[in-house]
Amino acid sequence: MFPVARPRRLRRTAAIRDLVRETSLDPKDFIYPLFVRHGKGVRTEITSMPGNYHLSIDMLVEEVGAARDDGVCAVILFGLPEKKDETGSEAWDDEAAVQTAVRTLKKEYPGLIVVTDVCLCEYTSHGHCGVIEDGGVANDKTLELLARAAVSHARAGADIVAPSDMMDGRVEAIRSYLDESGFSEVTILSYAAKYASAFYGPFREAAESAPQFGDRRAYQMDPANADEALVEVGLDIEEGADIVMVKPALAYLDVIRRVKETYGVPVAAYNVSGEYSMLMAAVERGWIERERAMLEVLTAIKRAGADIILTYHAREAARLLR
Ligand code: PBG
Repeated sequence: MFPVARPRRLRRTAAIRDLVRETSLDPKDFIYPLFVRHGKGVRTEITSMPGNYHLSIDMLVEEVGAARDDGVCAVILFGLPEKKDETGSEAWDDEAAVQTAVRTLKKEYPGLIVVTDVCLCEYTSHGHCGVIEDGGVANDKTLELLARAAVSHARAGADIVAPSDMMDGRVEAIRSYLDESGFSEVTILSYAAKYASAFYGPFREAAESAPQFGDRRAYQMDPANADEALVEVGLDIEEGADIVMVKPALAYLDVIRRVKETYGVPVAAYNVSGEYSMLMAAVERGWIERERAMLEVLTAIKRAGADIILTYHAREAARLLR
């Protein structure tokens, strides 16, 4: 004990701190979320998420090129449809924005990892993540539609499909339809423990996906539950998920840690829109140091046990880490 034990010895110089640092960030672990829409020359900033844009395919290609130069290796695409309907049918339209974007990006940047978000909420007129029956989302009827969307993304060339709807059994439904369709090599990253969170607020403006009635608490998880996250993750792994996600990240670091320790599979965490926008709003007011706060947040998510981080900071963080 003191005075023999002096932990400060390991903090004395920057070089020693570097030597003993336990957690390090690597741009290869980032997935950069992007919002695509139809049209040409469109690059409209999302007001609730400064520095993020609605992009038409031509502008998406430019953005991804610049992100690649910064060191980003993976993107996840969200689509804004031309028209919404009751079932969200544009989600599995081979000519929709996401599918076209995937084909274009895989041609332009063959080494890029292209992930697609598989969900119906951007595509349905009511904004829920599945088909409505008796005032609620009908689980089993939604599965086939999600599977169709995933196969359509795979056909366009997606490397990874990422279901974010929280229907029971969707990983199995997607896995079996992918396999039947000849896409047994397409990876599934499931949003396995996805909470009904207030931190998706800015995203719903970005994706124009706010539910038109009610909320998502009858399918997304209760923020108070952590054991239940292990049940969800366990089921998704059994059903064929290759990578599992915890979402959001910052208010759920304990869940990330437990999932990693319990299952040992690749774990992703989504540093969601509300987490991003909170930090950016404080930066805009001069209340917080941008780069330090950003790297601290990302390091904390990694330290908690995440192997992969989905983050709107991906480009900037990758640049700083070069
Ligand atoms: C679609 C989906 C959402 C997010 C990712 N996929 C929103 C939601 O469930 O309401 C949130 C991402 C973010 O907030 O950054 N289901």
